[in-house]
Amino acid sequence: MRINVKAYSELGTSAAIIPSMKMLGKIALVTGAAHRVGRAIALALAKEGADVVVHYGSSASAAQDVAREIESLGRRTLLHQADMGSWAAAESLGDAALAWQGRVDLLVNSAATFNTAGLLEATEADFDMAFDVNIKGVYALSRVIGRAMLGYAGVSNIINIVDEGAFFPWKGYVPHGVSKAALLALTRAQALNLGPKVRVNAICPGPILKPPDYSEERWQALRKTNPLHELGSAEQVAETVVFLATGPQFINGDCIMLDGGRMWQHQ
Ligand SMILES: NC(=O)c1ccc[n+]([C@@H]2O[C@H](COP(=O)([O-])OP(=O)(O)OC[C@H]3O[C@@H](n4cnc5c(N)ncnc54)[C@H](OP(=O)(O)O)[C@@H]3O)[C@@H](O)[C@H]2O)c1
Repeated sequence: MRINVKAYSELGTSAAIIPSMKMLGKIALVTGAAHRVGRAIALALAKEGADVVVHYGSSASAAQDVAREIESLGRRTLLHQADMGSWAAAESLGDAALAWQGRVDLLVNSAATFNTAGLLEATEADFDMAFDVNIKGVYALSRVIGRAMLGYAGVSNIINIVDEGAFFPWKGYVPHGVSKAALLALTRAQALNLGPKVRVNAICPGPILKPPDYSEERWQALRKTNPLHELGSAEQVAETVVFLATGPQFINGDCIMLDGGRMWQHQ
């Protein structure tokens, strides 16, 4: 927690301890915010002072729990269900988020599918699911929000949660990895088109939270695949979101690898 000693002492208070909130007064929209990484991002933004639109797909009850946690932090929240595989539903989510308080300052695209399908096994349905949710919905939602952001006085942010699979394909997750590579390309195209009013960046996580189809043994073995011998955490993804939204303003169209250096460990 950061301590803003100067500002508090200027108020004439002797106990110079007060947290500074980096997102105070901002409105954020986080997709896939009911569970896991999206949930951690939504809560971290609320802790930093943001009001948060909590998007969910099928996890209504878990999303309500997240909303309650956000309200217990003294922040406002809007719950919105949308199938991110639908262009129209993604656009409606954007419209609803903008109508709520008249603006959205930060959009975090975290919702995604993670379907297991290799190159030769993948069906048309696998391919469509990966591309509909991981690209089409993101494209449609980001356009609605991005267009609104172009009219704001300050600089806004869009952050796409990509995947290291965008750089290093896994044999068993081909539609997923290729859709995430497309999301990285979309990030750059968004940065190019929405500047100077919107900064658009990506985070490429390595192993953060165990996928449902991994055994605990297979998951823990991933520690040895990076030079730190660690696994990441949802909270570290959330910290990186806050950094990108509030840190150096010259970072744009970029991708932060959050993988413990795994990308350099070839042997
Ligand atoms: N976990 C990791 O280690 C890891 C590693 C690399 C990259 N990432 C990326 O980080 C992000 C979050 O990861 P995660 O593990 O927390 O993801 P996750 O649990 O697999 O999925 C996050 C959410 O996406 C939502 N979602 C999926 N399909 C949807 C649809 N058609 N419509 C609306 N929402 C949909 C689901 O919401 P509902 O539950 O409400 O349906 C789900 O809770 C993803 O973009 C992922 O690719 C994660």
